[in-house]
Amino acid sequence: MIKRVSGTQDILDMSLYDRVVSIMKEHFNHANYAHIQTPILEYSDLFIRSVGTETDIVSKEMYTFSVNEKETLCLRPEATAAITRAYIGNNITEKPWNVYTYGPIFRHERPQKGRYRQFSQFNIESIGITHVGQDALFLAQLDTLFAKMINPSAYTLSINYLGGAADRAEYKVVLKKYVSGQLDTICNTCKTRVEKNLLRIFDCKNSTCQEVYSSAPIITDHLTEKSYKQWEQLNNFLDALSISRVHNPHLVRGLDYYNNIVFEFSSSLLGAQSAFCGGGQYNLAPQIGHKSDAPAIGAGIGIDRLLIMLEAAGSSIIKNNNKKPLHLVIPFSEEQDTLALILSQSMHALGLNTQVLFSHNVKKAFSKGNKVGARTLILLGEDEQQNSTATIKDMISGDSNTVAHAKLAEVLKEL
Ligand code: HAM
Repeated sequence: MIKRVSGTQDILDMSLYDRVVSIMKEHFNHANYAHIQTPILEYSDLFIRSVGTETDIVSKEMYTFSVNEKETLCLRPEATAAITRAYIGNNITEKPWNVYTYGPIFRHERPQKGRYRQFSQFNIESIGITHVGQDALFLAQLDTLFAKMINPSAYTLSINYLGGAADRAEYKVVLKKYVSGQLDTICNTCKTRVEKNLLRIFDCKNSTCQEVYSSAPIITDHLTEKSYKQWEQLNNFLDALSISRVHNPHLVRGLDYYNNIVFEFSSSLLGAQSAFCGGGQYNLAPQIGHKSDAPAIGAGIGIDRLLIMLEAAGSSIIKNNNKKPLHLVIPFSEEQDTLALILSQSMHALGLNTQVLFSHNVKKAFSKGNKVGARTLILLGEDEQQNSTATIKDMISGDSNTVAHAKLAEVLKEL
């Protein structure tokens, strides 16, 4: 047998996924975001230029291939660069351009629970923002979205402020000086990061390294006056909006395109892969070839992780599956098969959820009805056929009621 590709999933029941996606769509439609779609295939260069060559995503996780000597393509490892490409390529002038999209993302990571090689993200981007109030509103909208699905005590919003390139250049000098005195203590990966991507040292899981970094200087103490004012203003807005959060000065995120605010929503219900949403501010347009800046804020929600979290928390969304009651149509013999088909089709056309059981075995039909949680059994025997009626067996009350075919749908809808 040919096996499933490692790190991918067969999802045999998409009903929870569909419900969660429809809540997210409704939430962002209501905040004036438009639903868009970009391709799964993109030129690899798009991500090399935007996400950064030193990131894990670009250096080792992209599914890249060539179909001819000129083109190197990949399966998208994230959506933000692709959405920015669409913004530039389609000459969008609307500001801000508020959009969302969802679908598969591919990263060649080491698979484990909550970490897959093909996973689903719901991405929300607001491109062309000009005021820190828009960042605060964006975070508030994410927070109210999650609070609709799960008790807010089940998750934490962590934020940090990375400032602009000038802020980071100054901070890196101070940080490098601090780490240089401890090079013998930190791991080899961190030693490489010190040279190639200094801020990513904070992502190291090694406890000895973490101990070293716990006393390191923090970026928000080294911001320029302008950036510090924005960080303060952002916090004032978030306080006014009553957004609970923690400041994690070591939150830098694994993609190189962020400026100013970065954030992550995480939950202890998720174990090691605890972040179910991450994002921040960025200005990718010039990196992808646009003449002017287009400051933006966005987030990627990991749908797989969100579902794991909702299941672990027993969220009301799990219980409330909104499925229509099922009516099982049961012809007693071949003689009633055609009638069963016709009745089932006309009931379906009137909005009822029906299925025909052709087993011609009433005992089996009852046990199947119990197993699948049918609301009623619609019994069609010789008498019913001759009298143009059907017998409705109510699986909750246990009552039986014989009604004319013409009245069947009406009676079922009132149950
Ligand atoms: P990210 O943090 O790489 O950000 O991914 C966002 C979310 O996708 C994560 O918080 C996590 O829930 C989920 N995720 C990431 N990798 C995996 C995986 N291997 N398996 C399952 N879930 C995963 C971005 O992708 C940015 N583009 C987000 C963004 C949008 N920033 C600005 N706009």
